[in-house]
Amino acid sequence: MMAEEAALNFADFYDAELTLHNAHFRVAAAIGPFDCVLDIGCGAGQTTRDAARAAETGRAHGIDLSATMLEIARRRSAEEGLLNATFEVADAQYHVFGDAEFDLCISRFGVMFFADPAAAFANIAKAIRPGGRFIFMVWQGRDHNKWATAIHEALDLDSTGPAAASKAFSLSEPSVTSGLLETAGFTAIEFREIKEPVFYGPDPETALATILTFENVKNALERPATTAEIRARLLDMLEAHQTPHGIQFDSRAWLITGRRYGDSPLRVR
Ligand SMILES: C[S@@+](CC[C@H](N)C(=O)[O-])C[C@H]1O[C@@H](n2cnc3c(N)ncnc32)[C@H](O)[C@@H]1O
Repeated sequence: MMAEEAALNFADFYDAELTLHNAHFRVAAAIGPFDCVLDIGCGAGQTTRDAARAAETGRAHGIDLSATMLEIARRRSAEEGLLNATFEVADAQYHVFGDAEFDLCISRFGVMFFADPAAAFANIAKAIRPGGRFIFMVWQGRDHNKWATAIHEALDLDSTGPAAASKAFSLSEPSVTSGLLETAGFTAIEFREIKEPVFYGPDPETALATILTFENVKNALERPATTAEIRARLLDMLEAHQTPHGIQFDSRAWLITGRRYGDSPLRVR
């Protein structure tokens, strides 16, 4: 499969997987018509486009490490005729943003992968005006996320091994994450639990085709003697998660909100 084709599948997968999460995210972001919004780790840009539509006379800027995902984001944005959504390949840890350039920063599951989270959050804080807001959605711990544990168990992987130590859960502990955010210059930090299922496809076969593209699944399938058995176990596991709404797994996330420290709540325009 071509890289572009795989990425497109992945883009569609995230948007479908996170439909219920996105509804909470949009309400919490409460983007106003004049807002200037930064979207960190925007991927294929659904949240950037949502922000651009809400910020009618403002703008939304999405950044991501993946040029391929940003190509999809640009294309979808152009198809919708959004003139105030822009995208840039950039690393949130080191990219030089304008000082206090944005009114708020959003991220839907894009801030857990930093090698240097302290540098990244300090850099992001600097880009938001004093009093400006942030809204980040991150996963709670692995054990609260059936999508992670069920696939892992079906693959028969060591739950204490490196495969279990995914960066996806790096911000799951509120006391640690609060400390990081406070040190970076954020205040009024609040965690709200989001307990919604994630969607993996309408039926087990479609869900299997999707998860066969995941790195940990591909690695497990490189053990030829067990390939057929692993596929069968994955399919059994997916059948056990069939609901009237398709294949769903329990998940728990944090919706983290707060402000950049400082007392200049209104931008001078
Ligand atoms: C789980 S995906 C979420 C994508 C998108 N926010 C969504 O909800 O569909 C995480 C994204 O974060 C991006 N990312 C990871 N580290 C990054 C960094 N240091 N700077 C910018 N983007 C990063 C990845 O490339 C990936 O597209």
